[in-house]
Amino acid sequence: MAKTASLTLDSGNVELPVLVGTEGNRAIDITKLYRDTGYITLDDGFANTGATKSHITYINGEAGTLRYRGYRVEEIAERCDFTETSYLLIYGELPTGEQLEEFRRNIRMHTLLHEGMKLIFAGFPPEAHPMAILGSVVGALAIYSPDSLDPNNPEQVEVAIHRILAKMPTIAAFSYKQSIGQPFVYPQNHLSYCQNFLNMMFAVPSERYQVDPDFVVAMNALLVLHADHGQNCSTSTVRMVGSSTVNLFSSISAGIYALWGALHGGANEACVKMLEQIQEDGGNLGKYIDRAKDPNDPFRLMGFGHRVYKNYDPRAKVVKHICHQLFERHALKDPVFQLAQELEEVALKDPYFIERKLYPNIDFYSGIIYRMMGIPNNMFTVLFALGRLPGWIAHWREMHTDSGGSRIHRPRQLYVGPSERKFVPLIKR
Ligand code: SDX
Repeated sequence: MAKTASLTLDSGNVELPVLVGTEGNRAIDITKLYRDTGYITLDDGFANTGATKSHITYINGEAGTLRYRGYRVEEIAERCDFTETSYLLIYGELPTGEQLEEFRRNIRMHTLLHEGMKLIFAGFPPEAHPMAILGSVVGALAIYSPDSLDPNNPEQVEVAIHRILAKMPTIAAFSYKQSIGQPFVYPQNHLSYCQNFLNMMFAVPSERYQVDPDFVVAMNALLVLHADHGQNCSTSTVRMVGSSTVNLFSSISAGIYALWGALHGGANEACVKMLEQIQEDGGNLGKYIDRAKDPNDPFRLMGFGHRVYKNYDPRAKVVKHICHQLFERHALKDPVFQLAQELEEVALKDPYFIERKLYPNIDFYSGIIYRMMGIPNNMFTVLFALGRLPGWIAHWREMHTDSGGSRIHRPRQLYVGPSERKFVPLIKR
């Protein structure tokens, strides 16, 4: 295998090092390209550009495989809960029993919000989107946690990690309660992570509430499946913002807003809205498949296609299986789930989708499970953010701990604007 790549430029030949990853993936190292040649590279959407080396998650888009720190995501989703998965992603190893109990204890100690933060929620109108609330209140953690802002202080970083893992579910549940005008339900630290979240979401102070154990199992698996996915848009945002050495809370807040976009994590909400629209339109799948294929129609099949997966998203397979399990156990039927399966079947036989290797991604079925749990559409991406949190933390931490800390991210550009021109005073314009 070649150890260098040759580039022929007008100034002569340049040899660039070729780096080889764990699974044989290769990268041409252009770190010194501009210094040595004055050339930069250009790559719309960074589809061909690696931003960093990483030890965290491996994705094989052609084969449709995904591994967290070397473990297959299907196995982690089946054998680990979300806090154990978070530990693995953040610290790189499966925890011992003692390490896991200490990690969970540290998280439990921080589940409450500062009482002053409740006033932030009170200022939001009822129709405020929970993702806008989540991003704002997570950002405000930087105000209430002045003793854990320094990314270069390992003790402060540890406290910040425990705080944000502990408080995001509380903030998410409070934003839901705020949107439906119900009183906040405080975290109960005798409950497990997902039990606690579901209790804060659906309990009310005036009634006893028992969290459905099936929903706890499903919620753990869903959060695990969302926990990390390499250099996706929101994780790259967390790395970009974190590279300026701003604190963890502010970096995560930026990632939340990137995730909200319908092309990214917002697709789970957009997918269920799309399925409900098709259902209201008489279930006319052909009409919407044709619209998705029409280059002049901006309509896209939400939950379909992926920048990296050119095969079935392995996470979508597990989510679909959880859908079937839950509906069978609860003897429930959801016409939207039925419609989603029919839509998948029609699309996967259509040459347009086959040629472009467009398959269901994690967002295609996840919203159907949330909906079945009684979680409203506008909370689906909040659940995605809760799941992706350990991945964001792991990448932010890796950036600061790898090879003595990273450089500030500052891409270059190819300028194609006007060349220098004389200024024209206003009276002459
Ligand atoms: C997530 O990066 C990650 O890892 C993200 C994620 C994670 O875990 O972080 O996996 C989570 O964000 C999943 C993706 C959720 N988004 C959606 O489901 C939105 C719908 N999907 C598309 O918008 C699209 O597939 C993207 C955004 C996901 C990927 O876009 P790309 O890689 O830029 O691909 P593209 O838009 O250039 O599409 C290539 C072709 C185009 O057609 P042609 O120009 O070749 O004729 O495929 C077509 C596109 O029009 N196409 C679709 C389509 N997705 C791509 N056509 C119809 N419906 C779709 N969903």
